[in-house]
Amino acid sequence: MNLSGFDDCWYGKWFKTRIFGKIHVFVPSTEGAKRILANDFVEFNKGYLKSMADAAGHKSLFAVPHESHTRIRRLLSDTFSMTSLSIFVKKFDNMLCERLKKLEADGKSFRVIDFTLKLTFDAMCDLLMSITDDSLLQQLGRDCKDVSSAIISFPVMIPGTRYYKGMKARKRFLETFKEMISKRRSGKEYHEDFLQSMLQRDSYPPSEKLDDSEIMDNLIVLLLSGQASSSAAMMWSVKYLDENRQVQDRLREEQLSINRNKPDGASLSLEDLNKMSYCLKVAKETLRMSNAVLWFPSCCT
Ligand code: HEM
Repeated sequence: MNLSGFDDCWYGKWFKTRIFGKIHVFVPSTEGAKRILANDFVEFNKGYLKSMADAAGHKSLFAVPHESHTRIRRLLSDTFSMTSLSIFVKKFDNMLCERLKKLEADGKSFRVIDFTLKLTFDAMCDLLMSITDDSLLQQLGRDCKDVSSAIISFPVMIPGTRYYKGMKARKRFLETFKEMISKRRSGKEYHEDFLQSMLQRDSYPPSEKLDDSEIMDNLIVLLLSGQASSSAAMMWSVKYLDENRQVQDRLREEQLSINRNKPDGASLSLEDLNKMSYCLKVAKETLRMSNAVLWFPSCCT
């Protein structure tokens, strides 16, 4: 088979092609994904595209070499402590309940993916930077969409192209982040969130903190990664639950029984999540059956 003049080959489900002088292999199988993901930095390196590194940033997890990757990943995950997660579970539950009530009151039909994309994006903005202002969320949401589209694009700065729009949106992201960082440093603003915990490390040695470009580039990565996969997973679970009424009924019963044992009006807690054994199975089965992460590049060593 030949697409657009490239020399392409199919090996069962696997597909090999040559783009810009490099061999690319698409591996759409569970065994392939397991082999690649279990051999990070051994048989495979993180190998991201130029457009991905330009749009997310050269100091982001999407672009840095192995040594920085390990340090950045450690420092990023340190900030997702049990305490911050537990606050976040409560916030997320309240946010979701409010929005579902509004949808119910409106009584109109809606696209599930639009709902989950907005929900996960707003939730990530709150978790990372305590952004709750509607107009800022809308502006950042539009910019996030443009940066996402630029992630896989031809990296040429021609007005009108996806890459061009994405790079302009990235610039606006950075301006917003810089302003927020300077307000926090000058003490004009303080919030208990991811950004604050990063800035609290200002006096630490370089190996124990992220510099400003690392913070900003990785804020973009967390926004993109946090939004895309979780919103797709939620959308797919709604579809599968609609098609499997027995599973839906059993899942609802688990939720209701957890709710019955809580005081009236109490929010969801981390402990409640740990009781949702059937829900966890539904989430895992959804991820097994669906395409929450459409593709992910790695480079063979
Ligand atoms: C259903 C939800 C999710 C799924 C299925 C998912 C899946 C994945 C997969 C398969 C990868 C590639 C892993 C690798 O190459 O080692 C990845 C990477 C990543 N994900 Fe997620 N993810 C989800 C949610 C999230 C959320 C909520 C966040 C942010 C808070 C996030 C942040 C990231 C980041 C930063 C990376 C890049 C990691 C790196 O380069 O080391 N993901 N995700």
